[in-house]
Amino acid sequence: MHSSTFRHVSDTAPGRGALRAARAWLHSDAPRIPLDGNWRFRLSPTAAVPEDFAAEGYDDGGWDDIPVPSHWVLQGDGAYGRPIYTNVQYPFPIDPPHVPDENPTGDYRRHVELPAAWSDAERVLLRFDGVESLFTVWVNGEEVGGAAGSRLAHEFDVTAYVRPGDNVVALRVHQWSAASYLEDQDQWWLPGVFREVTLLARPAGGIDDVWLRTGFDGGRGRIEPEITAGPEAFPVTLRLPGLGVEQVWATPADVAPVDVEGVHPWSAEQPRLYDAIVSSAAESIALRVGFRTVEIRGDRFLVNGRRVVFHGMNRHETHPERGRVFDEAHAREDLARMKRFNVNAIRTSHYPPHPRLLDLADELGFWVVLECDLETHGFDKLGWAGNPSDDPAWRAACLDRIERTVERDKNHPSIVMWSLGNEAGTGGNLAAMSAWVHARDTGRPVHYEGDHAGEYTDVYSRMYASVPETEQIGTDGSTTPLLNCTPAQGARQRTRPFLHCEYVHAMGNGPGAIDQYEALVHDHPRLHGGFVWEWRDHGILATTEDGTPYYAYGGDFGEVVHDGNFVMDGMLLSDDVPTPSLHEYKAVVQPIRFAFDGDEVEIGNLRHSADTSDLTLRWRVEHDGTRVDGGDLDVPVVPAGGSVRVPLPPIAVSRDAETWLTLDAVLAADTAWAPAGHVVATAQLDRSAPRSAPAVRPVTGWRPSEGTLALGIAEFAGGSLVRLAGRVVAGPRLELFRAPTDNDKGASEEVEGSDASVPGVSNADLWRRDGLDRLTTRRVSVEATQGALRTLDRVSAADSALSVSVESVWSLVDDALELRVEIEPSRGWSTVWPRIGVRLALPDGAAAVDGVAWFGLGPFESYPDSLRAARTGRFASTVGDFGVDYARPQETGHRSRVRELTLTAAGSEVLHLTALPDTQGRRPGFSLSRHTPQQIARAGHPHELPPSTATHLIVDAAQHGLGSRACGPDVWPEFALRPESRTIRLRFTAAG
Ligand code: GAL
Repeated sequence: MHSSTFRHVSDTAPGRGALRAARAWLHSDAPRIPLDGNWRFRLSPTAAVPEDFAAEGYDDGGWDDIPVPSHWVLQGDGAYGRPIYTNVQYPFPIDPPHVPDENPTGDYRRHVELPAAWSDAERVLLRFDGVESLFTVWVNGEEVGGAAGSRLAHEFDVTAYVRPGDNVVALRVHQWSAASYLEDQDQWWLPGVFREVTLLARPAGGIDDVWLRTGFDGGRGRIEPEITAGPEAFPVTLRLPGLGVEQVWATPADVAPVDVEGVHPWSAEQPRLYDAIVSSAAESIALRVGFRTVEIRGDRFLVNGRRVVFHGMNRHETHPERGRVFDEAHAREDLARMKRFNVNAIRTSHYPPHPRLLDLADELGFWVVLECDLETHGFDKLGWAGNPSDDPAWRAACLDRIERTVERDKNHPSIVMWSLGNEAGTGGNLAAMSAWVHARDTGRPVHYEGDHAGEYTDVYSRMYASVPETEQIGTDGSTTPLLNCTPAQGARQRTRPFLHCEYVHAMGNGPGAIDQYEALVHDHPRLHGGFVWEWRDHGILATTEDGTPYYAYGGDFGEVVHDGNFVMDGMLLSDDVPTPSLHEYKAVVQPIRFAFDGDEVEIGNLRHSADTSDLTLRWRVEHDGTRVDGGDLDVPVVPAGGSVRVPLPPIAVSRDAETWLTLDAVLAADTAWAPAGHVVATAQLDRSAPRSAPAVRPVTGWRPSEGTLALGIAEFAGGSLVRLAGRVVAGPRLELFRAPTDNDKGASEEVEGSDASVPGVSNADLWRRDGLDRLTTRRVSVEATQGALRTLDRVSAADSALSVSVESVWSLVDDALELRVEIEPSRGWSTVWPRIGVRLALPDGAAAVDGVAWFGLGPFESYPDSLRAARTGRFASTVGDFGVDYARPQETGHRSRVRELTLTAAGSEVLHLTALPDTQGRRPGFSLSRHTPQQIARAGHPHELPPSTATHLIVDAAQHGLGSRACGPDVWPEFALRPESRTIRLRFTAAG
């Protein structure tokens, strides 16, 4: 016989028993008892286990302890199962509303001591802030009720079940339930009680709920209060000490709006909050109020009357050890980091975060799109047949979810839009959710991307639209059809504000083209920016059998179905390290724009409403990357949306070095998220005097040779370089391969006018087909003259008639060893190439090369479609730090436009290289790695890389762009590398 909770796993009902209606998460002085800490715990492999454990006298002596909050799969070293990662796929049969009998079920028990004083409480509530996915609760052996909605708060009235002194709370949590069909978000499935559990004493005459809606209009603030309390709670007082407000309402009928003069508005840039206290004789509730008005006027989304541009991140709650368990210090630092990278908005993909996060967002300043805990993406493969979003059997569950979402967080000024969920198809239940929000909160628009035709939402939202399509969305009068829209629906969508709820997918190395999207926002005011997918990687800290730590992704826990490393697509690595893409993003969206014009610079303030009085403008002049002058520039305060022209500082132009001016807008004073001096925006101006490039001196008198000779610091045997500056070296050899990035492995082809993509062939597969990863060489000829050596090689791959001819000329020029490499593809290459470079191996020996200093673009890696964060200067790095530790090893480390570099070993200079521009003035890039691209391509995780035996220097005449084809557009044609002839010219000198 099935137990009652076993039957509940197939219930589509959102809750039962003494479950109460949703209300705000309030900071109250009423007594509360946190039930955090160890609970007794037992995990069963199925839901069909007797419920005798809920009895008061049950002996749980044989059980384990587990901390609350936590996910059981992240506790006990695998004793309680393992995390599962899927994106769209359901990790159980699609058999709604049923789930398999194999349903990990966690039983929890603990005692709690209720103080005698709690007998005075009118009611006692038991609150759960987050339990995945379905749970039932008993108090002192009696079933109180149950609920589903993992990332939502649930309160039960347990007044009738508790008693002074010892009480036993028992919980049964099922990993899978009908609710799991509504929670198919692209993330780890992590069961357990992962947010706080609290007992609340509700005083007689207490205030059950408060909503202080605010508005702002030209210096005047307005509070529209909603007080949920019985008549006995009155009089109720509202106080805002900072504004001298003290308003007493004698009866519920007296509660009325309050106008406040002289307030500073709240914005993401200037998050001005005022402390507010709402109190009755029995209870006092503390809130922080921000005054702002959100509205849509025509196709503009406005806060306080001004257009908002979202420079946003999709933020999941994820941590390598805690999973979705909230840690306030970590979350605060995470948000401060966002601010330091010019992020001004957060979409809480795809569920309400821990409620404290919104306090932090109010305080630090973010425009928040708060999303409901709803996604049914797995129904896509059924053509959305049976989708819960459109089935009346699920309506109550859908409505319960949006009500719990809005009610819990309604007081936050940072929340400027509600989102119904993500990728849940479309249907009547979503329309009903939207109608509920419109009726409940007229002060915030409703967002849901899946409403392509705009039937029930207020803004036009898309994910991963290409740059040309985005431009068409923003263009008045464009007749380009919009996705899933009739012409009339398309025309209507063009009357609304547009945003990208997801774009520039940040998986692995990439994305490219962030700047192309940003440029559109300035040209088309209907476009309101968007939210990067996504803020951080979701790696879970694991260890190999030999104890090496690594960040696990899908498949690493032996899942039956999984989606591999698609969960590692953040701008931050799992261990909080910002990737170069985040630096690129920061530079692209910087709120200060510099336009150089002759001896002046125009400084534009692109902010929403803040002027530039918080910034100082620093300048410096560098000659070949060495600072020669600098100071602060006198700039008048620029209002938001304004600009000012100021003369450039004096620039001493060098005759024999490059002269660069750098302007940095830095914080003038400490803020809550960065210290004074933090760079907010940067620009550089090249003021170098023209210099003639050293000419190529033709060498004449070539004679066939066996190629064994010494030339300056180089020694050759059989035409091949064997020693350089006394060190054994191998190469240089042609390198056309790069370890495919996640975007290179992306195989989707976009379909015009549709968000569907059809499976295509990835660049990575084409490169392998053409053998770029396994090139072989045939030496065609070796010739020498006095002081020069020339080799001609034919490079090609097994079973391919395609080839590349490589002519290398070594000569001595003014005591330096010069290498000129002419690379010329045969006819018939049909794909893009990842790179055109030469690779030189410096085998490890007594003093292995372990560092590099260079003059060129840096400090981070850069690629043709991701160059905005790169500046010209002198930089240094160890080989270990030179590349990024992407969760799946891939191409990394390329530094563009190098002029010179010095390899070092244990701090001593080893070899010096100068890179000369080609005849078109193009400079090569370079990278340095402990592994070859071929080795890197074979590793699934960093720990799978073989032991290194050499340092590999690759000098690239060109690299292919990055794009974002892992989920989005391929590399833009301008940044795609077609097979073409290239020249690389390098000069080597022994250092020291
Ligand atoms: C979107 C989805 C996100 C994530 C992303 C790809 O379709 O909304 O949750 O899966 O694609 O990483």
